[in-house]
Amino acid sequence: MNNLIDIMQLSKEELLELIDTALDIIANPDKYAESCKRKKLATLFFEPSTRTRLSFEAAMLELGGSVLGFSDAGTSSASKGESVADTAKVIGCYADIIAMRHPKEGAPLVASRNAGIPVINAGDGGHNHPTQTLADLLTIYREMGRLDDLTIGFCGDLKYGRTVHSLISAMTRFTGIKFVLISPKELEVPSYMIEDVLVKNNIPYEITRSLEEAMPSLDILYMTRIQKERFTDEAEYNRLKDSYILDADKMKLAKEKMAVLHPLPRVNEISVAVDKDPRACYFKQVRNGKYMREALILKLLGIKAGNAAHAEEQTVEVVTDKFKCTNPRCITCCEQEIVHEFKLADPEKMVYRCVYCEHEA
Ligand code: NCD
Repeated sequence: MNNLIDIMQLSKEELLELIDTALDIIANPDKYAESCKRKKLATLFFEPSTRTRLSFEAAMLELGGSVLGFSDAGTSSASKGESVADTAKVIGCYADIIAMRHPKEGAPLVASRNAGIPVINAGDGGHNHPTQTLADLLTIYREMGRLDDLTIGFCGDLKYGRTVHSLISAMTRFTGIKFVLISPKELEVPSYMIEDVLVKNNIPYEITRSLEEAMPSLDILYMTRIQKERFTDEAEYNRLKDSYILDADKMKLAKEKMAVLHPLPRVNEISVAVDKDPRACYFKQVRNGKYMREALILKLLGIKAGNAAHAEEQTVEVVTDKFKCTNPRCITCCEQEIVHEFKLADPEKMVYRCVYCEHEA
């Protein structure tokens, strides 16, 4: 595995190994200060970001490497009409590793097939965000001392929240996990997550509208922002934007040892008063993200590759001539040259899904 596009490319052993490396970096930063000497990370951010991009940059600098890139699609050749594949081929001539964020789902996968160097998905549309998951896993591990036997509540925008999709998938690697999915009807977890991830793996889950009712059972509460930029209807966003607000009163309903996570940025879904609560872990999560990105860069560059067995590759049937993806947020819908590929996600029900964005055929 030389790319990280989807968190499920990492086996449980690899996830634990990355956590071990991150803990070692925390304990012995000097040991790693020159690990990436003369290596260059390119950050290609076609969509706004503060922490993810700077976290990648800080991670590479801590490892003694250097960084180049852009943080605004308007300043890249994409604004002249260049394809993601061509941009990736060009950057592959300058850098050793790429971190890419893109508004179109599947764009980092396209880049990884063309760059010739490792590509990390730093967020693709409303789809996936695997390195945020690495930050989340280290935070859960450090706060709770375990990654098994946890009841995890996700609250807010579970439809477009890409961090939610990646973390739910990753947690299926562990045992004794139960999910409580707290959202308005309109922002429920996409059906492919329910069917292909939760039902298929026999993971218990509950769907509820009430944060208050869910609160007492949770070990982890993962709050999320309503993803304004993914809505096509502003009135719908305005109707849903204040659906959940975590405040000090609601925190009184929670376990004494619960941890509140949030990928940030926060809008108003966690009131500032909660920040003082020792259970508020979202700023620690930011720090943890940098260490996990360091560990990941070391792994993908083969500098500290580890011995953990890779995730078993599932052999699924892929067809290229049968369907066209109709998801307007998919990279295949805006770049004509990309071949539409569909995988047979459920052979019993004959459900095919787009390889790039998971949209059902
Ligand atoms: C998240 C993202 O970009 O998906 N932020 C992040 O990477 N830390 C969450 C969000 O934007 O709401």
